[in-house]
Amino acid sequence: MLNVDAIRRDFPILNKGLTYFDSAASSLTPEQVVLKEMEFYHDYRANVERGVHRWSQRASAEFEKAHEEVARFINAPGPENVAMLRNTTEGINLVANSLDWKKEDKIVTTVIEHHSNFITWLRVGNRHGCKVDVVRATSEGAFDLGDFEKKIDDKTKIVAVTGVSNVLGVIVPVKEIAEIAHEHGAKMLVDGAQSVPHMKTDVRGDKIDFLAFSGHKMLGPTGVGGLYIAEEELYTTEPLCIGGGTIADVTIDSYTLTEPPLRFEAGTPAIAQVIGLGEACRYLNREGMENVTRWDHILAEKMVDGLSDIDGVTIYGPKDPKKRVGLVTFNIRDLNPVDVALTLDNDYAIAVRSGHHCALPLMKELFNLNEGNVRASSYLYNTKEEVEALIFAVTEIAKQ
Ligand SMILES: Cc1ncc(COP(=O)(O)O)c(C=O)c1O
Repeated sequence: MLNVDAIRRDFPILNKGLTYFDSAASSLTPEQVVLKEMEFYHDYRANVERGVHRWSQRASAEFEKAHEEVARFINAPGPENVAMLRNTTEGINLVANSLDWKKEDKIVTTVIEHHSNFITWLRVGNRHGCKVDVVRATSEGAFDLGDFEKKIDDKTKIVAVTGVSNVLGVIVPVKEIAEIAHEHGAKMLVDGAQSVPHMKTDVRGDKIDFLAFSGHKMLGPTGVGGLYIAEEELYTTEPLCIGGGTIADVTIDSYTLTEPPLRFEAGTPAIAQVIGLGEACRYLNREGMENVTRWDHILAEKMVDGLSDIDGVTIYGPKDPKKRVGLVTFNIRDLNPVDVALTLDNDYAIAVRSGHHCALPLMKELFNLNEGNVRASSYLYNTKEEVEALIFAVTEIAKQ
């Protein structure tokens, strides 16, 4: 079990008077990660993979260690399988731009996707004439695997699915979907923005071909994220950008790309942030991802139970807390979710997110919600008392 009191001491920002329930947008960062980034600036501030002097050597060693740590965190075979990019969005776009599209290719995705994993595929469809088939979900975000079996066929080039919905909090059965994809020779891409921070990730066990995730949602710095690329795709996947740092050789009329992951990391990378993300993975590993998930379920259950009991409150997503991470969206009657979020901030010092959460197809198709809803999302540093404070505040707002 997590020692939440001890964890909170690693996050001095928690003493600044705000109850933070917006970790699905961006998590807080522990001192260990901040100090690791500072160590780079204080002790060995230099570029990586180029210089022979000692600071460059040290920066390169730390940079490579971070790749190894992130690879271990998701059970990738090695650091070459993890390209450090800016965020989930860039990872998905890299894959979409890298594949060799033909008109007859098909893409299968779902209605619960974040725009990053939705419009990227619509654009491929528009540009190349490929069909984009969208699997529907129930209002709790549950899928019928039979729907994937119907939509995925031998023309399907990629199946792009989120690991966890950023609106419903629901955990998606990516392993089962990957099996269906592979039966038809399709690649499986998982948007891990919300799943990687909250659940043990096993890219090899789940037979994922591409996994995109963001450091800033998993205790890491902003400006860095990872793209896992499976062994079979490592040399067929085209980098999004090329240039400095990505080549083995260049002549006057040709070039040869260097080995992965560097071939995907053109230009000077976000060195301090990559090193910080390695430290964030170390932190989460020390706490244990099973414990993180267990705490999520405890807080989710308390949130769902408490909010459901309030007159006029509608909750979205699964009622069973085991089916979700610590993320609950709700509305209070017809109150505008932005107003609810503002009142929570102004009157109760509670930070939540409001709006459509970059998931308009879900909002429109499943709930017909133009204004979206309110999202309270927790992480390993949140407490039961904070959930009680949220429930109290929502109860008071609902009385008005
Ligand atoms: C499910 C999901 N996918 C993708 C993203 C995009 O992440 P980023 O902005 O870090 O690229 C988010 C961010 O909220 C998300 O929740």
